[in-house]
Amino acid sequence: MEPATERATGLAVAAADAPSHWVEGERLWRRLMELAQFGATPNGGVHRLALSAEEIAARAQLVAWGTALGLAPANDAAGNLFLRLRGKEPELPPVLVGSHIDTQPSGGKFDGAYGVIAALEALEAIISAGQRPRRCVDIVAWMNEEGARFAPGMMGSAVFAGKRSLEEIKRVKDSNGVAIADALAGVLAAEQDLPRRPLGFPAEAFIEAHIEQGVVLERHGTPIGIVIGLQGKRTFLVEVVGEEAHAGTTPRSTRRDALVSAVDIIKSLEAALWDDVDTVRFTIGRLVLQPNVPSVVPGRATFSIDLRHNDTDVIRDLGDKVPDVCARARGRCEVAVTQLLYDPPLEFPPAVRARLRAAAERAGLRHMELQSPAGHDSRYLHSVCPSGMIFIPCKDGISHNEAESIKPSDAVAGVRVLADVVCELACE
Ligand code: GLV
Ligand code: MN
Ligand code: MN
Repeated sequence: MEPATERATGLAVAAADAPSHWVEGERLWRRLMELAQFGATPNGGVHRLALSAEEIAARAQLVAWGTALGLAPANDAAGNLFLRLRGKEPELPPVLVGSHIDTQPSGGKFDGAYGVIAALEALEAIISAGQRPRRCVDIVAWMNEEGARFAPGMMGSAVFAGKRSLEEIKRVKDSNGVAIADALAGVLAAEQDLPRRPLGFPAEAFIEAHIEQGVVLERHGTPIGIVIGLQGKRTFLVEVVGEEAHAGTTPRSTRRDALVSAVDIIKSLEAALWDDVDTVRFTIGRLVLQPNVPSVVPGRATFSIDLRHNDTDVIRDLGDKVPDVCARARGRCEVAVTQLLYDPPLEFPPAVRARLRAAAERAGLRHMELQSPAGHDSRYLHSVCPSGMIFIPCKDGISHNEAESIKPSDAVAGVRVLADVVCELACE
């Protein structure tokens, strides 16, 4: 059967045994839209938190799609989900390809999901092209990339790469007090028929396709981004402790109001971390008060800090300032600062980037190199095997938002590059 997308997109036609020739845009789009039904919101977004019922159902759909293609599903104790295309020499380290399917609470259809569905389409194209790689290829949906329900994110890939221990992450709780240990047990129980893979195993390479979540590709009118590296990121938890008191009877002069101190601390942080060139990314996305009722002076205010920069020295220096700035602005309250994550900037191997570039050239697709300001599971895979990323444009750079949108033709372009590179790596 002749793939429809070649005609639909007007892209260069690859040799008939090249997987890129067999990528089918309609099938790719249909699966993207079907996956987006798991946790669909009325505004066209997706609410599919890590280890939630919605994600369990979406994982079952991935297993069904993979099984229909002849892929072997499996999971590991950290809740990473694998769909394996068996190679001719299955004892060789496999090629990994994928991303994540958890979303932000009001997320879009494509952040993460694109990379997993793109991987499925890439493997279907490899099979349709009659290719039988030496190595196995594992599609992976990493557990809890977003870190929205359980912070910080990228947990499944961190545990896989040995950066964090399973025991440590199991203790992390969501805002309702549910521990990962319990949520994970629910996922693994739902998948009790799946074989359990070891936690972390040698891999030949990891390739992740993702939406850009920025405006660079769109502004350049370029469908393929080859990612140079990832921005550095540090996250902190700040706990401001005062004293609960009666809103009607307690004079303001004697209060230890945790919110008042938190506001002063936040204003001081905003000023201390400000940069006129506007390259520092500083976000307080979560602020929780206790007891959070109208007539009690807040006794505790807890907030998150998400700090990012591309320069190793800048992120070190700015992050190191955080505890001191908080302490100086705490007023009458106590403050405790805990660093949750410190990931310096990184660069993907030039050899992987050159391979992606060559595949884009062969497919006749315009491409450019760019930096990723967002975080991705490739960060941790990079520490265990050569890793790289393909970006496709997304409308107006909007992401972590229900309005996230991509063009079907760009979605196809990304998979064409992905399919050829994954096949090449698996055949070596
Ligand atoms: C990933 O979702 C990030 O926050 O960079
Ligand atoms: Mn993502
Ligand atoms: Mn995200």
